[in-house]
Amino acid sequence: MTLLLDEVALATARLAEAGVDSPRADAEIIAAHVHNVKRGELHTVPDSEFDARYWADIGRRENREPLQHITGRAYFRYLELDVGSGVFVPRPETEVMTGWAIDRLREMDVAEPVAVDLGTGSGAIALSIAQEVPRASVHAVEGDPLARGWAERNITRYVDSYTAGRVLLHAGDFVSADPRRGLQELAALAGTVDLLVTNPPYIPLGSIVAPEVAEHDPPAALWSGADGLDAIRAVERAARWLLRPGGLIAVEHGAPQGAAVFWVFTEEAGWRDTANHKDLARKDRFVTAMWPGTVLALGA
Ligand SMILES: C[S@@+](CC[C@H](N)C(=O)[O-])C[C@H]1O[C@@H](n2cnc3c(N)ncnc32)[C@H](O)[C@@H]1O
Repeated sequence: MTLLLDEVALATARLAEAGVDSPRADAEIIAAHVHNVKRGELHTVPDSEFDARYWADIGRRENREPLQHITGRAYFRYLELDVGSGVFVPRPETEVMTGWAIDRLREMDVAEPVAVDLGTGSGAIALSIAQEVPRASVHAVEGDPLARGWAERNITRYVDSYTAGRVLLHAGDFVSADPRRGLQELAALAGTVDLLVTNPPYIPLGSIVAPEVAEHDPPAALWSGADGLDAIRAVERAARWLLRPGGLIAVEHGAPQGAAVFWVFTEEAGWRDTANHKDLARKDRFVTAMWPGTVLALGA
């Protein structure tokens, strides 16, 4: 007979040894997942025989598989999302930028605001906007078919609640040289979008990242050229085409990239009110700007 608490303590030691950041929390969350209870209900699980399923899952975490792939769940603002192999696990830092976008959409003097989420992954940003801004519609674009499958699954999961019909998923490529081609499915929205939000890939090629990221987040979600800014420069071009005069953009970036991304959204290129914003850890995390102009011809 093995006490559950003893198993959790042993698992905690193994995860700490493997370099996992929050070993006790992960050991408890995996125990709760295996026994199908909430973490705060672990005391209700009868002390059991050695549980092979628990140790199989602890082994996966020891090999630095993300916790969210093991439980199949990620939490983002008010959402519980299905995640797994082939989709980027949504991160808490993105919740702050999403909150900024939600606040701006709520205060806009627009009856039914239109938002675009470029690179939607699990659908986290798009679904949060639809859930928290009841009159908004959100066009979610994803280039990777596997990730698009996860987005579809999450959109379907929330279809009965507040978001019904207001998140529209599109295939598209926002890094193509001409956004009119890569984002053909959004052609009807050109010059009409109230707010564009994106957490694009932004890691410079060759950077060292944690094993959970390197081996389990999809490469298309991570890497973006030598300085990490290729996708962000493409987003800036796409935004000029999509936003209405007075429309807003929010772009997530890596902590050291705040100054560089600020200079992508310059007054010379037509942007106004460009600003840096920090995440909950007080690190530079996203840039916002306003597109004041009339719609310019691409290349102008
Ligand atoms: C960092 S992940 C963000 C996912 C999600 N928005 C989130 O915050 O959790 C970037 C996403 O953009 C997608 N992506 C990357 N390049 C793309 C491109 N050129 N066109 C369309 N989607 C792209 C990736 O497949 C990935 O799902």
